[in-house]
Amino acid sequence: MIPDTCILLCLVLYSLCPFINATSNLTLQHRRADPEAVVQELQRRVNASLYRRKMLDNQQEKSQLSCITGNPIDDCWRCDPNWAANRQRLADCAIGFGRNALGGKGGPIYVVTDSSDPDPNNPKPGTLRHAVTRQGPIWIIFSADMLIKLENPLMVSSFKTIDGRGANVQITGGGCVSIENVSNVIVHNINIHHCVPANSDGDGLHVQGSTNIWVDHCTLSDCADGLIDCTLGSTAITISNNYFFHHDKVMLLGHSDNYVADKGMQVTVAFNRFGDGLSQRMPRCRFGYFHVANNDYVGWVVYAIGGSANPTINSQGNRYTAPSNPNKKEVTMRMDAGGEEWEAWNWRTEGDIMENGAFFVPSGDGLSPQYAMASSLAPKSADFIDQLTLNAGAMLANGGTGVSMSSPSSESGGASSGGDGAISGGSDGSYGGDGSSGDPASGGYYGMIFGSGASPPAPYQNYIILLALIVLIITNDYAVLWPPL
Ligand SMILES: *[C@@H]1O[C@H](CO)[C@@H](O)[C@H](O)[C@H]1NC(C)=O
Ligand SMILES: *[C@@H]1O[C@H](CO)[C@@H](O)[C@H](O)[C@H]1NC(C)=O
Ligand SMILES: *[C@@H]1O[C@H](CO)[C@@H](O)[C@H](O)[C@H]1NC(C)=O
Repeated sequence: MIPDTCILLCLVLYSLCPFINATSNLTLQHRRADPEAVVQELQRRVNASLYRRKMLDNQQEKSQLSCITGNPIDDCWRCDPNWAANRQRLADCAIGFGRNALGGKGGPIYVVTDSSDPDPNNPKPGTLRHAVTRQGPIWIIFSADMLIKLENPLMVSSFKTIDGRGANVQITGGGCVSIENVSNVIVHNINIHHCVPANSDGDGLHVQGSTNIWVDHCTLSDCADGLIDCTLGSTAITISNNYFFHHDKVMLLGHSDNYVADKGMQVTVAFNRFGDGLSQRMPRCRFGYFHVANNDYVGWVVYAIGGSANPTINSQGNRYTAPSNPNKKEVTMRMDAGGEEWEAWNWRTEGDIMENGAFFVPSGDGLSPQYAMASSLAPKSADFIDQLTLNAGAMLANGGTGVSMSSPSSESGGASSGGDGAISGGSDGSYGGDGSSGDPASGGYYGMIFGSGASPPAPYQNYIILLALIVLIITNDYAVLWPPL
């Protein structure tokens, strides 16, 4: 490694240097008197610093390992302490039927700095509405915590990522988020609540006629209609790591019993926590293929999983905890069909944990070939459900996540502003503060010399340091650079 070479070189230079006249106690003691002792002392110090670096490396490795939860999405990006330097990595972490959702991958970063929504028909630069209505791929982040109160639904165009990591972003009001007749949208780490009708049903997140959609780590509650509804020919959707609470009709997948275009619908519902105060539709399915895997249900009022119009439902590795009501222990509910009819629908439970008397009524064929179209990932054992859903929902910027939020200022690459002040390469100084300053692993000056920093220094830095060392040795000022270890 280069730092080692550097240290060795210094060592050789030092021991050969006949005109050293440094003022430090170390050099005073050993200078001229015993060059070998000087070399030995230096070797000891080099050894000590190498040892220290090794310990730091081990610590870092350990903290990365302890970050691993078994949740394949989170493990893909959250264990990297520098995830904020490469936000678009998230797009590679999707699983399930929506795994190909690109979002704004490859596009510029757009920093939302203005929480207002003054004129939906003529969006103001710097607002979320301005960001989501631009053309082409855009990766949208937020300069600070913000409450965005919408006038009417936020119509998201294709190839957008709304990435709320590092901020507490709340979306509420008229709408709310509408993903209509588009493709490749990722919504991540956003709180959506108290959405009311305004040229809309008042869904939290409304997906219609759209494909390749991924909703991850959002917290949704208290909306007028559904929290997430996917209808009218939508497919290739993953709904993962979300936290739902306090709501009646949680999730509708499939428009109506007559809308046969939903026959091709494929949706993955995985790693979500269906929390307190939920009534029904977790989800309610029609026609298509639904993979419900590794979710945690803490109860329900009416039912958890229901459907009509012959949907295929593959329930694997979930934990269903029934409510106390003795008449509502059944997980499942069939609508609009008599027993002779629904007995042919393919609904199966496999590896699910049933708590508090919960029971799942399967139907149709339990054989796996029938579920090929409703299989989108390898489910984990439900024994790990606490761990797998530990961080479900939007994660706070500074707490509860175990993720150090570092400044995204290094995120400048290619994010040029096309004459649009709001698209910035991360030059916006107002963003989140400098998370790296308080980080003990971020490495100070000596950390870089000895390579104990969190990130390896660029090679040229080593040469500059080596050069400085040589200059300092020659000018007899060596003690300045040689700190007590
Ligand atoms: C130098 O070292 C001696 C013996 O280790 C110690 O007593 C003395 O205080 C030191 N002087 C300075 C300036 O550090
Ligand atoms: C280097 O330091 C470690 C830890 O202090 C010690 O165990 C090891 O023997 C040292 N090696 C040499 C060559 O001095
Ligand atoms: C989406 O497509 C449907 C069906 O073609 C149409 O009725 C609706 O107006 C479209 N919505 C938007 C926002 O373009």
